[in-house]
Amino acid sequence: MHSKILVTGGLGYIGSHTSVELIQQGFEIIIVDDLSNSSTEVLEGIKKITGVSPEFIKLDLKNKNEVNQLFDNHPDLIGIIHFAAYKAVGESVNQPLEYYENNIGSLVYLLQAIEKKGQRFSFIFSSSCTVYGQADQLPITEEAPIKKAESPYGNTKQIGEDILYDVTRSNTLLKVISLRYFNPIGGHSSIEIGELPKGKPQNLVPFITQTAAGIHQKLNVFGDDYPTADGTCVRDYIHVVDLAKAHVVGFKRMLADEQSENFEVFNLGTGKGNSVLEVIKTFEKVSGVSLNYEIVDRRQGDIVAAYADTSKANKVLGWHAKNDLEVSLKTAWEWEKKIRNI
Ligand code: NAD
Ligand code: WQD
Repeated sequence: MHSKILVTGGLGYIGSHTSVELIQQGFEIIIVDDLSNSSTEVLEGIKKITGVSPEFIKLDLKNKNEVNQLFDNHPDLIGIIHFAAYKAVGESVNQPLEYYENNIGSLVYLLQAIEKKGQRFSFIFSSSCTVYGQADQLPITEEAPIKKAESPYGNTKQIGEDILYDVTRSNTLLKVISLRYFNPIGGHSSIEIGELPKGKPQNLVPFITQTAAGIHQKLNVFGDDYPTADGTCVRDYIHVVDLAKAHVVGFKRMLADEQSENFEVFNLGTGKGNSVLEVIKTFEKVSGVSLNYEIVDRRQGDIVAAYADTSKANKVLGWHAKNDLEVSLKTAWEWEKKIRNI
C-alpha cells in the first residue's frame, strides 16, 4: 500500500497509541509533531512494538508555509488523523490566544492544504466530551446539546467541529469523523509507550500514579459533596488503546465510503461512569499501593458527572471498549513504574 495517512501529534499520548494500531493494521503513516508536548523517544517505543520505524517530520503546524510544503512533498497522502493541539484546560484560560492560534490556526491551514489538493481526503478530528459541558441527561448521546464552552480549550473543540462541518458542505471531497473522547487513561500493554505529562499533571490518573510513585506527597480529591453516590465526581475512563482502535475503524469507514453523511460524530467511552473514590480504590487494588489522599474543596469548572452513551459507535462502527477500569489503571501504573525505575 503506497497511500499514506498523516498523523499530526503522533508522538503524543493518544497519537502514539493510534500510530501503533494503524501500523499494525497495515497502514503507512507519516507522523508530524513539533515536540511541544512529546519527545522523539516515543518513536523508539512505536518501533519496539510494531517493528516499524514510521516516517517522522518535526514540524509546527502553526507555520502555514511548512504545512503547504508538507502536502506538496507528499502527494500520496489520502487522509489525516489530527491529534495535534494544546490540551491544558486551565492554561487555556490564561493563554486563550495561544490556544486559538494552535488549535484553530493549524486546523485551518491543514484544511486549506487539503482543499488545494483537490482530491478525496479522509479526516479524523480529536474532539472531546467537554463539548457537552454538564449534560442534562446521562448517559450522553451525540444528540445532547452543545453547551457554552467552559474554557477556551473547550471552545476550540466546538469551533473545530463547526469549521469541519462547514468545510464538508463546501468541499464534498472531504470526509470527516469527529471523535468525542471521554477520559482517556492507561497505556499500551507492552509498556513501551504511555502517558508522559509535562510538569504537574492536572488529570486524575497521572496524578494518582505519580503520587503512588512518591513524586507528590498526596492526591487532592476535589470535593465530596457532589450529588453522586459517594459525593465525588463521576467520569467515563476509557483505555487509550480502545480509543486508538476506534480511529482505525473510523478511518476504514471513510475509505470504504460507508459514511451516512460526510461529517459524522461519535462518542468514545466505556459507557460506564466511575467516581473519583472508585478510581482510587480500584487503583489501590490493582497496584497494591495505599494512596495518600485528602478531600479538599471543589475544583472550579468541574462538572458533576459525564459518561457516554456509546450505542452509536457500537452499532455504526462495530466498536466497543474492551478494557475495564482495572486493566486501564494497571497499565497506567506499570508505565509509571517503568519510567521511574520502580
Ligand atoms: P498530547 O499533548 O499528548 O499530544 C498532542 C501532540 O501534538 C503532542 O505530541 C504535541 O507535541 C503535538 N503538537 C501540539 N501542537 C502542535 C503543532 N502546532 N504542530 C505539531 N505538533 C503539535 O495530547 P493527547 O492527550 O494525546 O491529545 C490528543 C488530542 O486529543 C488533542 O487534540 C486533545 O485536545 C484531544 N483530547 C485529549 C483528551 C485527553 O484527556 N488526553 C481528551 C479529549 C480530547
Ligand atoms: C477527573 C476527575 C476531578 C485531579 C479533563 C478536561 C476535558 C477532557 C478530559 C480534553 C474530576 C478529579 C482530578 C486531581 C481530583 N480533556 N480530580 N484530583 O476534568 O473530566 O476533564 O480531561 O478534552 O476537557 O477538562 O478530567 O482527569 O482532570 O478529572 O480529584 O488531582 O478527577 O475533579 O472529577 P476532567 P480530570
